[in-house]
Amino acid sequence: MTELDRRQDRSPVPQDWTYAPAPEARDIVSLRGRYGHFIGGEWVEAAETYTTIAPRDEEPLAEIGEGTEQDVERAVAAARGAFEDGWSALPGSERAKYLFRIARILQERAREFAVLESLNGGKPIKESRDVDLPLAAAHFFYYAGWADKLEYAFPNRQPRPVGVAGQIIPWNFPLLMLAWKIAPALACGNTVVLKPAETTPLTALLFCDVLRQAELPAGVVNIVTGDGRTGAAIVDHEGIDKIAFTGSTEVGKAIQRRLAGTGKKLTLELGGKAANIVFDDSALDQAVEGIVNGIYFNQGHVCCAGSRLFAQESIVEPLVEKLKRRLETLRVGDPLDKNTDVGAINSRMQLDKIEELVQAGRDEGAEIYQPPCTLPEKGYWFAPTVFTNVAQSYRIAQEEIFGPVLSVLTFRTPDEAVEKANNTPFGLSAGVWTEKGSRILWMAQRMRAGVVWANTFNRFDPSSPFGGYKESGFGREGGRHGLEPYLEFDA
Ligand code: NAI
Ligand code: MG
Repeated sequence: MTELDRRQDRSPVPQDWTYAPAPEARDIVSLRGRYGHFIGGEWVEAAETYTTIAPRDEEPLAEIGEGTEQDVERAVAAARGAFEDGWSALPGSERAKYLFRIARILQERAREFAVLESLNGGKPIKESRDVDLPLAAAHFFYYAGWADKLEYAFPNRQPRPVGVAGQIIPWNFPLLMLAWKIAPALACGNTVVLKPAETTPLTALLFCDVLRQAELPAGVVNIVTGDGRTGAAIVDHEGIDKIAFTGSTEVGKAIQRRLAGTGKKLTLELGGKAANIVFDDSALDQAVEGIVNGIYFNQGHVCCAGSRLFAQESIVEPLVEKLKRRLETLRVGDPLDKNTDVGAINSRMQLDKIEELVQAGRDEGAEIYQPPCTLPEKGYWFAPTVFTNVAQSYRIAQEEIFGPVLSVLTFRTPDEAVEKANNTPFGLSAGVWTEKGSRILWMAQRMRAGVVWANTFNRFDPSSPFGGYKESGFGREGGRHGLEPYLEFDA
């Protein structure tokens, strides 16, 4: 007799809250065995290829082109041709029609894109379905709206397009970062050569299909795949007028050095080590949800992740206790399962980096907590992790881990919170949890961070500019600010 049966006199209480498997069907995605580059509206064969895999089980998915200098040369020529051959002179209202079409097609094909994003990148399907895809479509809708209003966005300044934009994006939000880059560039009348990250090229390649469906003129968007060498060839190409880069601070710095004196425009969106600051008057249970969303969303592969939790000393114990209890309910596993909260780590390389920094945390004397969870045998996995007893000087409090690892630090006064939160070379985002509106404003003014969230975290909207201070980069994406890097002004 089960426990449930024995309690006949009371309402039934299940003894086991384990979820049954709820896998999303993947047959909506049809992959080709081999992909070339998308140049001038055509697929161009790649001379050399590498294999892209699914990080959940290392299954090979497709052969991907390793872009050479010649491929980049062809792509830049195609982009230049399309720029001069009408795209830049098209009325904004006409450009807008293409962007609206792209947005609608992304919505129509959202499930296909979401499944592919989770398969190739490892993020939970509920995130790619509910966050990446809606936001990517929203970006195209939003910038479609600006395309014929540039003169109102910048009155009396006679905005005109920059020319050919080289865009290099990372693997944590592959399609969303593509949308952040391509939508404003096209709205402003530029053409594009974009390189997706080497581990996650598939949604960018599927996007080429959307471009054809939308009948975007050939050469306006060109996609060249490959690793850092392909990226470097884009950065160095003389025919490129503007570089937009999202990725590591190390590569961002190298790009800035290379471009110094060339006259090419540059925006950099780099790493972060955000402070999530919880005051003793905040709603603790809501704060716990915000902390979890801040650091375990997308396995912590988020440049603005709330990786440093600052808890006011009077509440650190109950807060950490609640947090640990919450972590026990996180479901780690198959990215394609609809109940999964934390998916696979994107690559072997990233897993190695996380493991190295977590080991450094142990060695330096921090106390580690990981909830009991069984990780799949194949693929790349890391359990949600919390470090307490962390000193400001530890590597886990200073360096970007880019994984599901939280460092808990404490403070006593608002001034101390500000000082400690700003004690970092980065400055992308911050979170403040308090009941007092005045304190929110006081803190927001003092945080050296591009975005400050109040009583929430990791909220995005295409109309809201995003970008960094200090080593987190410069330039803004999103909002009216996001148009500026793609425009020249006569006045
Ligand atoms: P990465 O900066 O090497 O890669 C980002 C993009 O830049 C990729 O498309 C890559 O192919 C390209 N790239 C690499 N070297 C290049 C070069 N010399 N010239 C032009 N393009 C180049 O980042 P990686 O190695 O994938 O990750 C390392 C660390 O960087 C992560 O552990 C994380 O801490 C951070 N990162 C931050 C991101 C963010 O959103 N801010 C995104 C990805 C990584
Ligand atoms: Mg790298």
